[in-house]
Amino acid sequence: MVPLQQSPQILTSDSFLAHLHKVAHAVEEVLETLLPPPTSRLHEAMRYSVLGGGKRLRSFLVWESCQLFNVPLQETLHTAAAIEFIQAYSLVHDDLPSMDNANFRRGKPSCHKTFGEATAILVGDALIPLAFQTLVSLNTSADIRLTLIENLSRTIGSDGLVAGQMRDLGQEKSCHTEQDLRDLQRLKTGLFFAFASESGAILGKASSQERDALREYGFLFGQAFQMIDDLLDGCGSQEAIGKPIHQDASKLTFFSLLGPDLLYKKTEATLEEAIAALSLFQGRASLLKDAALYALTRKR
Ligand code: IPE
Ligand code: IPE
Ligand code: MG
Ligand code: MG
Ligand code: MG
Repeated sequence: MVPLQQSPQILTSDSFLAHLHKVAHAVEEVLETLLPPPTSRLHEAMRYSVLGGGKRLRSFLVWESCQLFNVPLQETLHTAAAIEFIQAYSLVHDDLPSMDNANFRRGKPSCHKTFGEATAILVGDALIPLAFQTLVSLNTSADIRLTLIENLSRTIGSDGLVAGQMRDLGQEKSCHTEQDLRDLQRLKTGLFFAFASESGAILGKASSQERDALREYGFLFGQAFQMIDDLLDGCGSQEAIGKPIHQDASKLTFFSLLGPDLLYKKTEATLEEAIAALSLFQGRASLLKDAALYALTRKR
């Protein structure tokens, strides 16, 4: 297989970035309308944490997945917004002093630095039901809404994202091997990317093969994305990534276990697998391929 970095597809990354920007802008407008107006301290802190930052990569996955199955715009954007509410909650809580104790997020002081710890906890608590409320209100059948809600609940629950965070913080089975780390990344990030990628297939009533393919792509992509996140924590710059580096210095991560070169190679191999999962769609999923390529070269 041609290494991804040498692949001609890498040339498409500029158009990918333009597209990512366009999707981010559209989702931002919807987030703005779905968030409560800043009439209380809590609502202000929710808006601070959700708006005006973030790459909106998970939204992009929702968007592209929806495009494959001609899902209407309202459903697409509101599903993406629900996912961004969860993303914002997970980051606000991830930054708390009792978790990663990170003072910067998305280029500005973390929520707890600006609003205090108690408010930051409650921001997370409020964003989770807002995400589910957003899915409940989608303009589609009850069956589809229920499937999305059920899948998202599992994705972020105590056998999903939260389990990953427990392990990451050393509160549960600690990591010693590469396989342990892969399991951790799958829980922390793989499942959430899988859900975002599959959501358009759920909304578009796609076949089970199509659903599985998108899920597999997202799952592998999420792992690879977290591997690069570890790399950037080890040797990126705070200015570029908008959050402190060396946050993971005391933990076993892919970066400390493998070093930058091997980590990069393994990420590339994981992304190749992610892209291979899209073969079913032939040329129709080219922007999803570009998204995977972007993950490899991203600096932020
Ligand atoms: C940060 O995700 C958390 C990880 C899974 C590494 P992103 O890097 O996608 O964060 P935002 O949403 O763009 O800020
Ligand atoms: C957090 O991973 C992933 C979540 C589930 C929130 P990290 O702790 O590595 O994310 P960053 O580096 O703070 O964005
Ligand atoms: Mg963390
Ligand atoms: Mg963190
Ligand atoms: Mg990190």
